[in-house]
Amino acid sequence: MLRVKNLRKTYAMAEGRVEAVRGVSFDVDPGVFLTLLGPSGCGKTTTLRCVAGLETPDSGEIYVGEQAVFVGNRGVLVPAYRRGVGMVFQSYAIWPHMTVAENVSFPLVHGGFKVPKSKVNEKVRKALELVGLGALENRPAPLLSGGQQQRVSLARALVYEPKLLLLDEPLSNLDAKLREEMRLELREIVRRLKISTLYVTHDQEEALVLSDHIAVMSEGQILQQGSPRDIYLNPQHPFVANFVGSANFIDGAIDEAKNGHYGFAVGTALGPISCPLPSDVKIGERVSVVFRPEDVLIHIDAERSRTNMFPGVLERVIFVGKRTHCEIRSGSLLLHSEASARTEMQQGSRVVVEIPPEYVRILRSQ
Ligand SMILES: Nc1ncnc2c1ncn2[C@@H]1O[C@H](COP(=O)(O)OP(=O)(O)O)[C@@H](O)[C@H]1O
Ligand SMILES: [Mg+2]
Repeated sequence: MLRVKNLRKTYAMAEGRVEAVRGVSFDVDPGVFLTLLGPSGCGKTTTLRCVAGLETPDSGEIYVGEQAVFVGNRGVLVPAYRRGVGMVFQSYAIWPHMTVAENVSFPLVHGGFKVPKSKVNEKVRKALELVGLGALENRPAPLLSGGQQQRVSLARALVYEPKLLLLDEPLSNLDAKLREEMRLELREIVRRLKISTLYVTHDQEEALVLSDHIAVMSEGQILQQGSPRDIYLNPQHPFVANFVGSANFIDGAIDEAKNGHYGFAVGTALGPISCPLPSDVKIGERVSVVFRPEDVLIHIDAERSRTNMFPGVLERVIFVGKRTHCEIRSGSLLLHSEASARTEMQQGSRVVVEIPPEYVRILRSQ
């Protein structure tokens, strides 16, 4: 439904050039919800605005459905209103002097998606029903809560039944509780409509909850694409491992293992760490070992009887309700663990940490 190939966009500023998007490629298949996830300033909005036609790329190609809407080297540039995409902004962009229904009907009456007058009411009603605002048609827009305003802007983007929905951090202006509610509601709506969606956020949890696919961006480039599970469980890049969830990193080198079922281990400052390895690793190859804090087990009274058990001292214990966050000192290394809040932990006590081999991933030099 959407194909973006090698997209580039540079802004010329008084203080120099900003390379906002540096060769970004991705596809959104029909009915798929794809999220561009990355920190502020990594080029998410610029990418989205290029797709919408609100920004002209320097080079690359963009196809919406069968239509080429931008092809740099062929001079193809289709204006925004002829791309058939709906867009929702972080700032809502609701007209304050209009009612809910007038706001939603705007693209059908004034915008690029004019329909016969007799059809307008029916379409507006349908869009408002979709977002759960059926009863508020005639309310003036300023009398709406933040969540309701966001729904109005979603209804306005859906009212002309776009081929593709673009959403730029649509939930960031809502308070935490409402954001979680709207997140689930949005998930319901797009799943029901099976509309192809390109979503932008810096919020990793939002991306994991909403998306079929996630593309993690940093500094104008996509570092990794995959399903939420894949991105979280098999990060291929230190940035991805750290940005989506948190991670322990330990540098080391591949070594022959004397025991354990993998045959090889990674020699590290902690000791040899066993884990699944790609078949083409070589002895001596330098790699980073990565594992999630929630996969690190802490034993208070235990022998080092299993693979990947290492002695340490609880340097810091922070109770955060759901979990207890622990920092364990082992030699020169500090390991992070998310332990069950039910386990009593004493700062300063000696413990044994266990890192189950199956949860360990290695990152090879890129
Ligand atoms: N209109 C603009 N003029 C100049 N620089 C811009 C403009 N829009 C964005 N940028 C710069 O491009 C980079 C990417 O911005 P943006 O796409 O808004 O990132 P994100 O949405 O991921 O936060 C940033 O360095 C930003 O300052
Ligand atoms: Mg942005």
